[in-house]
Amino acid sequence: MKTIAGLVLGVSILIGAAFLTRATRAEDTPAPVAAQIVETKELMKILFDPQYVLLRDNLRTPPEGRQALRELYLASFTLAELHNLLFSREGHEYMASEEWRTMASTGRAEARRVGEAVKAKDYEGMKSGYTALIESCNACHRRFQEPADLVEVKP
Ligand code: HEC
Repeated sequence: MKTIAGLVLGVSILIGAAFLTRATRAEDTPAPVAAQIVETKELMKILFDPQYVLLRDNLRTPPEGRQALRELYLASFTLAELHNLLFSREGHEYMASEEWRTMASTGRAEARRVGEAVKAKDYEGMKSGYTALIESCNACHRRFQEPADLVEVKP
């Protein structure tokens, strides 16, 4: 009898301990957050640049047909969302600065403006949004890039 009572007590203690450990672990583990995978230089090269090229090439003449509008729609809203990744960059102290965040938010707004003009099929709006977007790319590069590596994004 004693052995069975002991066994039951032992098992209860084990189960209780397991619950407690799980509860503590849940509290200790920080919630998952955005994490940088590639350096900013690489982010620009593999994500920003190809979308800019799509915009540049498709805006040379007024877009004709659904396909051209779709390309512009995808590129502009992709670029707008990509600017959100600039808010969680690591590697340089300036990437946490107010100025960096302001520039990222300006670029995001301009890319979005192009997208809205695409939705409205407003070519002049697309062109002026695009010009402002390129200016925002270059403003950030002039402010934060090493002068020797300065990248001038061409309209
Ligand atoms: C908020 C700041 C910021 C904005 C906005 C920004 N960039 Fe950049 N970009 C950088 C920085 C910083 C680097 C340099 C990173 C490095 O060398 O470590 C860079 C580098 C680049 C490079 C060079 C990559 C290489 O291989 O050396 C290209 C191309 C580029 N950006 C394109 C763009 C385009 C196109 C836009 C706009 C659509 C844009 N960037 C907007 C900050 C910005």
